Amino acid sequence: MPEKYVERVLLTKDEIQKRVISLGQQISNDYAGKELLLICVLKGAVVFLSDLMREITVPVFIDFMAVSSYGAATESSGIVRILKDLDCSIDNRHCLIVEDIIDTGLTLLYLKENLLSRKPASLKIVTLLDKPDRRRVDIEPDYCGFRIADEFVVGYGLDFNERYRFLPDVCVLGEK
Ligand code: PRP
Repeated sequence: MPEKYVERVLLTKDEIQKRVISLGQQISNDYAGKELLLICVLKGAVVFLSDLMREITVPVFIDFMAVSSYGAATESSGIVRILKDLDCSIDNRHCLIVEDIIDTGLTLLYLKENLLSRKPASLKIVTLLDKPDRRRVDIEPDYCGFRIADEFVVGYGLDFNERYRFLPDVCVLGEK
């Protein structure tokens, strides 16, 4: 298998920070007068969640789900497994799924249907990154940080085989 390495920076820490602030303002306006439960999809979205939640001015609650569709591959298998479910009930609550990236959309489609069956007051999706060229199912985020091309990205929470999550920028992974 070819060796992977960090080829270049795609989005700098500063660019990400500016966009996250603006997403926080938009979400705060849209949910004015309401309370919001942020549902973070582990592990990739934790960095985005921790920055985003501090830019939202309405009362926010957080909970976590872990699902796996990738394993050690860079391609989605299409098989989604719940590794960790929510701790809280979402019945009649305003919920926002927080994702780091939407690729094929298979993970999110599964999550959305699963969560809707629990009767939330509303359910929306925010993603830091969207790769629309890779979509295999009909699903769109309600809020999106950046639309990116079909390149494998790491950093700001995103990994390759659990590596590179700590990088402050979003970087493109290349092959040697
Ligand atoms: C990534 C990402 C999304 C999913 C998107 O998670 O966080 O949940 O893949 O891919 P899709 O649109 O093709 O379904 P991953 O399974 O890599 O887990 P991680 O967040 O723990 O790294």
